[in-house]
Amino acid sequence: MHSPKQQNLSQPHPSGLSKTPPPPGSSEIRKDFPILHQTIHGKPLIYLDNAATSQKPCFVIDTLRRYYEEQNANVHRSAHSLSELATSLYEKARDRIARFLHARSSREIIFTRGATEAINLVAWTWGLQNLKPGDYVLLTEMEHHSNLVPWQLVCQRTGAKLRFIPLKTPDYHLDWEIAKGLLRPPVKLFACAHISNSLGVINPVADLCQLARSRGIVTLVDAAQSAGHLPLNVQEIGCDFLAFSGHKMCGPTGIGVLYGREELLESMPPYQAGGEMIALVELERSTWAPLPQKFEAGTPNIADAIGLGAAIEYLEWIGLDRIAAYDQELARYALEQLQTVPKIRIFGPKDQRVAIFSFLVDEIHAHDLVTAADQFGIALRGGHHCTQPLMRKLGVPATARASFYFYNTFEEADRLAEALHEIQRFFAA
Ligand code: ALA
Repeated sequence: MHSPKQQNLSQPHPSGLSKTPPPPGSSEIRKDFPILHQTIHGKPLIYLDNAATSQKPCFVIDTLRRYYEEQNANVHRSAHSLSELATSLYEKARDRIARFLHARSSREIIFTRGATEAINLVAWTWGLQNLKPGDYVLLTEMEHHSNLVPWQLVCQRTGAKLRFIPLKTPDYHLDWEIAKGLLRPPVKLFACAHISNSLGVINPVADLCQLARSRGIVTLVDAAQSAGHLPLNVQEIGCDFLAFSGHKMCGPTGIGVLYGREELLESMPPYQAGGEMIALVELERSTWAPLPQKFEAGTPNIADAIGLGAAIEYLEWIGLDRIAAYDQELARYALEQLQTVPKIRIFGPKDQRVAIFSFLVDEIHAHDLVTAADQFGIALRGGHHCTQPLMRKLGVPATARASFYFYNTFEEADRLAEALHEIQRFFAA
């Protein structure tokens, strides 16, 4: 007869993190990421597609495995022990995220499928409720499609219009003077990427959001490229909403977060309807659950929410300050190395940037660059990076992109530059 494994449901996580975290870029850190230790086309893998998705440490993988092997049950529904355990782990993950963002309360943290769904949630609830003809939504020219297309649709529906803070092409920063002029009523909402996934530029979101707030404008920060890369504090930024995905910061895919200021979330209608998000249901009408459940219809992505909590625990163990400082050193070094490649054009700033580099070499198409780099074991991304209007502004259809994370090394930046030298010579021959 099958006898269930006896277990103490409150035992600590098996793969505990040591007292002294190793430094970013060290071989000890790299040991935490099993996927990095393989060869591609006979060469050691150099994974430089972190802006698309990051790799996952054992700590997160073990958390997911343990959840499914020992803890899986539905949340907020039942009084049996496993359900209580799953609920407590799920809500602890939410609490951790609230602390990670310096939110005032866990009620301000809504689990979503990712940054895209988080932005859609705001567009289709706050946007539909508040925008009307005569209003403007202010974005920037460098937004990812996920922070552009939802606003296009909601503006078409409500009669509001879009405006854009332009990019200064010589230095790839937002034009602050124009921004100051545009950030005033009738703009109702300002939404902006914290870090551009195509340019690597860090936008001054705190200055922009605080100016917007002083003029009564609601603000949303797309933190898809900054969460897990530098410390985030929604109080210091002064934004009303902030969105990010788990999978770009060592967490699983299919989970993300919307932070929203409680008063605003309270005032918004539900996004999706069904189980979990209701208080009282009658045949003709219903009332809503309190925050955050009002925005979490149906069985949530429990495992991956817990996995995201583990990813944050892991990142905080290394230290977000250390990760950000390492990124700055790596960005400086990689930029220097890339600049040695003949006929390279780098589309991004020299300062106020992270280690995300969009580039073209000579007349070589971005996709050919990516395919050629793959022969060296180097994973890049080529294309428009979901920023077609930005590519048009830059006058190119596509770029190749190298995006680093804290497990990448200075040696890998050298290998990238060497490979690009060789690829340039090959195509020029
Ligand atoms: N937004 C992701 C990227 O920039 C997918 O690659």
